[in-house]
This record gives sequence, C-alpha cells and structure tokens, in this order.
Amino acid sequence: MADGSSETKSSNQMWGGRFASGPDAIMEEINASIGFDKKLYAQDIRGSIAHATMLAHQGIISAEDKDKIVHGLDTILSEIESGAFEFSRRLEDIHMNVEARLATLIGPAAGRLHTARSRNDQVALDFRLWVKEELQKTERALTGLIAAFLDRAEEHADTVMPGFTHLQTAQPVTFGHHCMAYVEMFGRDRSRVRHAIEHMDESPIGAAALAGTGFPIDRHMTASALGFREPTRNSIDTVSDRDFALEFLSIAAIAATHLSRLAEEIVIWSTPQFGFIRLSDAFSTGSSIMPQKKNPDAAELVRAKTGRINGSLIALLTVMKGLPLAYSKDMQEDKEQVFDAAESLELAIAAMTGMVRDMTVRADRMKAAAGSGYSTATDLADWLVREAGLPFRDAHHVTGRAVALAEQKGCDLANLSLAELQAINPAITDKVFDVLTVEASVASRTSFGGTAPAEVRRQIAWWRARN
Ligand code: ARG
Repeated sequence: MADGSSETKSSNQMWGGRFASGPDAIMEEINASIGFDKKLYAQDIRGSIAHATMLAHQGIISAEDKDKIVHGLDTILSEIESGAFEFSRRLEDIHMNVEARLATLIGPAAGRLHTARSRNDQVALDFRLWVKEELQKTERALTGLIAAFLDRAEEHADTVMPGFTHLQTAQPVTFGHHCMAYVEMFGRDRSRVRHAIEHMDESPIGAAALAGTGFPIDRHMTASALGFREPTRNSIDTVSDRDFALEFLSIAAIAATHLSRLAEEIVIWSTPQFGFIRLSDAFSTGSSIMPQKKNPDAAELVRAKTGRINGSLIALLTVMKGLPLAYSKDMQEDKEQVFDAAESLELAIAAMTGMVRDMTVRADRMKAAAGSGYSTATDLADWLVREAGLPFRDAHHVTGRAVALAEQKGCDLANLSLAELQAINPAITDKVFDVLTVEASVASRTSFGGTAPAEVRRQIAWWRARN
C-alpha cells in the first residue's frame, strides 16, 4: 500500500485500463480526496458489506466470494481503527483505498464487489450515512442545551430583568422567560434536524453511475440493511443530489445564528457595566497584562464560528448551483464544508451548554436594571386605559408627560407623588402605585406566552414534556 515512487507513474489500478501513464503530480494533488474523505471509512465499509450481501442474495456473486469480501472488509475496518492502515493518495479516495486493500487481502474476489455499483452512488451513500449520523448527534446535543435552559428558566422564573428592544430598556421581563426564548429557538432547530433526517432517509446505493444497472439487484434490501426507510426513486437525481448536505449546512447556519445571538448577549451581560451574569472560570480566560480581566472567550468564539458555518453553506451552494446532471467532480468539494461545519457546530453547542449551566445569575443586578429606564411606563398607560377609561393613545401621551417629569426630577415613575401625577391627569388615584413596580408589571402579563412567572412555569412544563 505504500506510495512508492515507481508506482506513481503507472496508471491507476482501479480505472487505468485505457490510460497509458499515471497522473501528473499536480493532477494527483487536485484530484485526491483521501486527505479528508477517510473520515467516511466506517460508512464506506458498512455500505460495501450491505452491497456484497445483497449481490450474493440475488445470485450475482457467489456466497464464497461474499464471505471473503465481508471478512476482508472487517479486517480493513480494524486496520483503520487501530491506525495500521496506510492510506495512499495515489488511490484518490476512501473507496479506492479500501477496495485496493481488499484486493491485497483476498485476491480476485475483491474485484466482484464493485459489480452493479459506481463510486457515484457509493459516495452518495457514504456521505448520506455520515450526515444522517451527524444530524442524530446534533439532535442529542440540542436536547442537552434545551435541558440546561429549562433548568435555568425554572430556577429564575421569578427573577426580574429588563426586557429590551433596540437594546434599550423596554419592559420588565423575567430571566426565566428570556431563557425560554432560547428554548423556542433551539427547539425549532431540533425540529428542523428531525425533519431533515426524515427527508434524507432514502438509500442511494444501486443508482450506479447514473442510469441504474442491468443486474438484478434489490435496492430495498440494501436500503433496509443500512437503516434507510426506502431507496431513492430516480438514479440520475440520486448521484447528483447533495440537498442532504445543503440541508445540514442550512440547519447548522440557522442554529449557529441562534448560538451567536446568545453568545452576544453573554458577552454583553458579563461586562462590569451590565453585570447580569458572571461566567465560571471554566468558560472564561484572563488577560496577560490586565489582572482584573475575565474575558468571555468561549462566547466570542461561538459567535465567530457562525462565520465559518455560514461560509460553508455559501461555499457548497455555490459549488452546486451550475452543475449539470448528474455527477460532476465538483461535488467532491462537499465534504470539507460539511465536516468543518459539523465540528464547529458540535463544539459551539457543547461550549454554550457548559456556559449556560455554569454561569452565575446576578439577580440583584438584573432587578436593579429592570426598574431603571422607566420600564413600567406601559403599565401606567395600560392602567389609565383600564381604570380611568382613557383611549390608549391619550394614555400614551399622559404617560409620556409623567416620564418627562420624572426624567426632569431624576427619579423613577414610582417616586412621583400622587399630586404630581394628578396634575398631569386628574383621573389618577393612589391605586396606580400598585402597577408601577417591576414585580407587579411582570406578574400582570399573564397572556399566553407572556412573561408572568405563572405563565413561564406553564411554558417550562410544556417543554419538559417534550424534551
Ligand atoms: N471522491 C469522489 C467524490 O468525493 C468519489 C466519487 C468519484 N466519482 C467519479 N466518477 N470520479 O466525489
């Protein structure tokens, strides 16, 4: 298997029949994918075992050859897993590396494995199996992140904080409610993952090069042996389709966007100016020059990984956009994008789960900030509508004047006297002070999906039953 220099000029043993000489060194370098597609070794071997078993079952190869092939493939699997296998760039990719080794191990029977199949359906199979497994991992990782948020939400269903729009204080909310917003986002990501698994659950093997095959293969048999719901229906589409990879990348990009928004909030919340949370030592770093600093590096890197993941999506969309049917070698560029995005996403979800579980929530700081910025102004306006019968637009105007007065006096709305409020609108009574606290504001928002602690607890219970 060694890549001996005497061999580099000879033609390829897999497809070199009509070739007089081997590839130029540059050709070999641009053409080879073994450097990255060796990641598909387990899927490649599993696919070949299913294919050989089906060929024997259909009487296309003998049972003895099938046994030799399966035994040889098992040996190769353990060679690769123990690190003993020598990958050769001259053999281009994982498919030919495995097949060439099989020939060395079992002799001529190895040549029968590639009956009724092509590397085109083979790579479509291997890669689909890999992406499907990665989606299953992503589903589990998202479940873990959702669980972390549900715990924090439960713990802080009553913890008031400012809710923001335009990053300006808007209305008081609870930290539990804010956490549950992320549960919704990651819950949608997870349902996109589940949907994608459904969508791609069709076996490509047996499409052959693009036109199917004249051998009496059983594609339903290989599909079920490999854990797919059914075989794909159109052999041309099968070898030219990379939607499953694009779907993975789009799901990853949307999830990474959610992670990045959370990362940004963590960066903001952990500044001394906000001080809403303190990150654990385990998920922050110090500065080599400024001893007082504790930096949210993990959150910053999660935010940055989104750039890579979005880049991968755009890269593969661009590779695919002008390709005529069916297979073109351009499609070999699919794997590195998906592998890189998968690694980044896994790491980002794991780091975020750790940060959410470990961070200290500073309820005192959140509460102090919740009351500032006239966050209960809407409550005053609503009170005027409800108790004094004002149209909302007039109530909005009255409240605006009250805010202006408080601002001029440098105090909160709740610190204005009844006389001052009545000077703005005589219908105001001392009952108004019941709604001007942040706790009263939050407790009043009992609408479905609202921020009232009772409602947030109901949302948590709904999710607990589904996580
Ligand atoms: N390494 C190739 C890929 O990743 C495998 C398929 C090659 N097929 C071909 N007809 N050259 O796409």
